[in-house]
Amino acid sequence: MEEVKRKVLYSAVQPSGILTIGNYLGAIKNWVDLQNDYDCFYAIANMHAITVRQDPATLRQRTLELLALYVACGVDPEKCTLYLQSHVSAHAELQWVLNTFTYVGEMERMTQYKSKCLAHADNINMGLMDYPVLMAADILLYQADLVPVGADQKQHLEITRDIASRFNGIYGNTFTVPEPYILKAGAKINSLQEPDKKMSKSDPNPNAFISMADDKDTVMRKFKRAVTDSEACVRFDEVAKPGVSNLLTIYSIFAGKTIAEAEKEFEGNGYGDFKAAVGEAVADKLAPIQAEQKRLLADKGYLNGILASGAEKAFRAARKTLSKVYRKIGFYQLDR
Ligand code: TRP
Repeated sequence: MEEVKRKVLYSAVQPSGILTIGNYLGAIKNWVDLQNDYDCFYAIANMHAITVRQDPATLRQRTLELLALYVACGVDPEKCTLYLQSHVSAHAELQWVLNTFTYVGEMERMTQYKSKCLAHADNINMGLMDYPVLMAADILLYQADLVPVGADQKQHLEITRDIASRFNGIYGNTFTVPEPYILKAGAKINSLQEPDKKMSKSDPNPNAFISMADDKDTVMRKFKRAVTDSEACVRFDEVAKPGVSNLLTIYSIFAGKTIAEAEKEFEGNGYGDFKAAVGEAVADKLAPIQAEQKRLLADKGYLNGILASGAEKAFRAARKTLSKVYRKIGFYQLDR
């Protein structure tokens, strides 16, 4: 039988603190689904993370926690290449070369750079500006065909395509020019406190989001406090009843039911019972994930093994691209 080469898909996440159930539905579950259909490279982007100041011990700890969480959620290191960005030095090496094909002006115009400059006015470092070029290096090293992107990263993928095409235009075909992978419109999970806004891990009010690490009591309490309305009727209407609709969305996903089934189930019920049921459904899903994450974190040998073999697989793929690039730009190479 003819073997069909699967398309390469690249994605990465930064090891920043809290992940919410919104991140779980929007990002983690996608990694799990995509690993079956594509040749996936998944990185923990710790090199991107240091563009804002990090506490070293916390960064180390979060790296392992994130790895354990992804594996606990079903990312399978046998099916994909799961690795830590800093373990593959080719990222920094390719970034340097790509820097010389990137204009300062186009980096200054990036919207995320501009907003980060405002948010971190005391530390506008070169890395903050160079962040998209490191992303381009990540993606281009693996000759990725597809990159799943949310709205906030779209501009970065655009610049990656520009840099790749620019380089290919000068040196001949070197990089695959990646396409955005448009994710199936997943459910949008909103804030529990301001249900017109997206649920965000950086919300100053922790009652607004459910963290993947929240225990059952916390989950129940946060749903109990969730903002609803005064109609006392569990029905889906995003315009008139954004709070209740958001809770229905969450319930339908976590309980594996349709919105209509959920509406029916809570017909005639008050919000108190409804909120408790939503809390139960979410807590029941989180508990086994949290237990598995904890078990994995206690088995550092296993986690290290995943990272070691991931780094080796990634390095093998990355090295090919890097030496091709070095050859094309005229870096003298030794025969080996
Ligand atoms: N910058 C991305 C984020 O914060 C993470 C990231 C790093 C990434 N390298 C990447 C995403 C390459 C896609 C492709 O979400």
